[in-house]
Amino acid sequence: MEMVVLENEPEVLMENISNKGNRDTSAAPGLKLYRCVAVSFGLLCIIQVALNISLRLSLDYEAGTKNLTEERDELKGKLNDYISGNEAKIKTLTGERDELKRRLDVLISGNEGKIKTLTGERDELKRRLDVLISGHGAEIKTLTGERGELRRRLDESQSQQNALIRERDELKRTLNDFDQLFQKGWEYFHSSFYYISSTEKTWQESRDDCVSRGANLMIIDSQEEQDFTRRFPKRMWIGLTDRAQEGTWRWVDGTLLQRSYWYSGEPNDEWGEEDCAEINYKDVENSWNDMPCDRQIHWICEKKMAP
Ligand code: BGC
Ligand code: CA
Repeated sequence: MEMVVLENEPEVLMENISNKGNRDTSAAPGLKLYRCVAVSFGLLCIIQVALNISLRLSLDYEAGTKNLTEERDELKGKLNDYISGNEAKIKTLTGERDELKRRLDVLISGNEGKIKTLTGERDELKRRLDVLISGHGAEIKTLTGERGELRRRLDESQSQQNALIRERDELKRTLNDFDQLFQKGWEYFHSSFYYISSTEKTWQESRDDCVSRGANLMIIDSQEEQDFTRRFPKRMWIGLTDRAQEGTWRWVDGTLLQRSYWYSGEPNDEWGEEDCAEINYKDVENSWNDMPCDRQIHWICEKKMAP
């Protein structure tokens, strides 16, 4: 602890008093004064700054308050203007609405009687209809049944009629086809038409001609057909060939030859390659002969008709 000696010189005593707590006891009196003035000045500056800030804030606050007040007053004015400008309209509309309401009430009350009358009439008609129905229940049931039966029979005869119409049309078409073929010189035999050419062509050309007529070269698959060919005293190509495989004779529809009518000794492939069949020996039942396909002779087409 520091001891203060009272007997010391007055300056030292003063310094000790002013510098309590300060160990530097060697500073000059001018410097002390300077420090004192500087501290005071510093304090004054701080106070000045604080005053400036508070003044500024106060001014800003005042200005802001003023702006807001002005804005509020302006908006208030506008709102008042709007209300007073539309008051008349609102009043008019309210009046019109009330008038319409009144007229609607008048209308309803004026027709109430009519509505009541119509409802009554409807109910009466309903009641009378119910009485009528319940009194004639059996009759109605019978009539309904009869009506159903008649309807069923009508439908039946309608579908029969439709079937007949279809059949008639089909027959008409067939009759027309027959007529056309007869006119073009075709012969009818056992559900087929036959065309005997007046010119001569190779086997392939003959076949093409038949196809162009909606037919093909004749396929002989019955004794009757074979006999039929004997009516025509001509050498004629028929639809039989072994071109695809030597010795395997097939008809033009692709079926294999079953019952054949080769003349005695035929097929003999006499010219090396005789791959197409003709009707040749017409004076005998077995009249077929194999011939080179490029020879030109008559031909016979067959067009099968529905049996
Ligand atoms: C023969 C046939 C042969 C034909 C050719 C006849 O004399 O008997 O087998 O196909 O001639 O033209
Ligand atoms: Ca031959």
